[in-house]
Amino acid sequence: MGVDGANEESVSHEEGSGKGPTSRGDNDKVEECDLQHLHYLKMVVKESLRLHPSVPFPSPLECMEDTKVVDYDIPAKSRVYVSIWSVGRHPKYWGDDAKDFRPERFKNNDVNFNNAHMEFISFGAGGRICQGMSLANAIVELFYANLMHAFETLCMRLKPSACV
Ligand code: HEM
Repeated sequence: MGVDGANEESVSHEEGSGKGPTSRGDNDKVEECDLQHLHYLKMVVKESLRLHPSVPFPSPLECMEDTKVVDYDIPAKSRVYVSIWSVGRHPKYWGDDAKDFRPERFKNNDVNFNNAHMEFISFGAGGRICQGMSLANAIVELFYANLMHAFETLCMRLKPSACV
């Protein structure tokens, strides 16, 4: 689903064309060791996970004791649902263009989904954060990089002049 989101958004996102993963040399495929060089691809994947989290509503949490969150009194034993989808699109944290697909928003900042930034919780947060986060991110990046690489190769074969 992360790949779905990235693909759908990239196709309709002209600004990003030409900045995409692109090929690494003349290799047939992108390898895991190439990923560290594909900075724009990493931003595309992050932006896709922000706008299209595969798990928009994780399992509910149960409040262990009476708690106050902002103006809300939450009694013990309440079930609390956190909308990952809404947090990822909230203008208070992501600005007025929160709903736009703009990978560049991750340029020159360290905002990530690694449990350190509560505005970016596509893999959940806290002690129950997704155990497969690193694996899932690597798979999505690798899959997407290879998809783009194959597309570029095909494009070069069909119409080289259109692929500069
Ligand atoms: C893009 C792919 C994925 C996304 C967006 C994702 C997202 C999530 C989310 C939001 C949760 C709930 C966290 C919470 O309740 O706070 C979760 C839980 C979990 N995920 Fe993932 N996940 C992905 C892929 C994977 C993969 C590939 C694995 C395993 C190889 C995995 C293993 C788990 C496990 C074990 C939990 C339960 C953690 C717990 O309750 O303690 N996930 N994931």
